[in-house]
Amino acid sequence: MAHLPTNALKGRHFLRVADWKPGELKAVLDLGDELKMLLARGRPHKLLPGRSIALIFNKASTRTRVSFEVGICQLGGTGVSITAAHTHLARGETLKDTASVLSRYVDAIVIRTGAHSEVEETAAYSSVPVLNALTDSSHPCQALADVMTIRERYGRLDGVRLAYFGDGNNVCASLMVAAAKLGMSFVAACPPGYEPTEQALADAREAAEESGASIEIVSDPARAADGADVLYTDVWVSMGQEEERDKRLADFQGYSIDERLLALARPEAFVMHCLPAHYGEEISEEIAHGPRSAIWDQAENRLHAQKALMALVLR
Ligand code: CP
Ligand code: NVA
Repeated sequence: MAHLPTNALKGRHFLRVADWKPGELKAVLDLGDELKMLLARGRPHKLLPGRSIALIFNKASTRTRVSFEVGICQLGGTGVSITAAHTHLARGETLKDTASVLSRYVDAIVIRTGAHSEVEETAAYSSVPVLNALTDSSHPCQALADVMTIRERYGRLDGVRLAYFGDGNNVCASLMVAAAKLGMSFVAACPPGYEPTEQALADAREAAEESGASIEIVSDPARAADGADVLYTDVWVSMGQEEERDKRLADFQGYSIDERLLALARPEAFVMHCLPAHYGEEISEEIAHGPRSAIWDQAENRLHAQKALMALVLR
């Protein structure tokens, strides 16, 4: 059985990486590593017997929904998956009322939606922890799995040079703040106009001041790739941006992770992508499935990191 986590994080929401201290994020990574090992060895770790967790998805999901549902099951709990379109949310019932009601039934609420304010509203009216499963501006659960994967491969995060290429979007924002909290050297290469938001940059810079991390935003992908330990990318057209597709594809030309960028990185550097991938755009299928890809470990680690997160906020 895993060591019982301390209850320091019990009852906490996880809405933004910026809301959690470096030591709190590390506690998730440590327990995530331990739960991964226990699962691999077939050893019991039912840390949440009899607990119920609601999963509200207002947007499509493969990894997040399945890894949460399976993770809850492995922890001995029950996941209640709710597609917003099939609830009264679609008929005008407010999130305020929905959160007030659901938190009388369940022990935590996982929510994926558009506006970040909706996650905040859910948390404001929920008496149980709310976990952000992606908004237009953040993807904190993804960032947990990302840094877990990097630490697993390098044995450390401090000073690891993480280069992100493409859209300074929700995934980039949470990853950048996590990197800043954990003392990494983060550089994002974004086309002009697609840099991370001022809020994300302010959060990252504040965290970097405390940790000694470095945060840099550049427009030249080669400069970002130079000496990188990790190369990371995400789609150029996020959910909800489909109408901008043609303009985005044109604006992001030259920002794909390709052999040229890989050659500039350190010899042991590997590639990450939160998925889903759009092959031929931000990355090629050959690289994603090639020997320098950590993408599939990264996807797996969603399960372990989120199990740790749930255990820590619920126990
Ligand atoms: N990376 C990620 O969140 O994937 P899904 O959209 O499939 O959940
Ligand atoms: N940036 C992407 C991430 C998907 C997991 C999106 O928001 O669609």
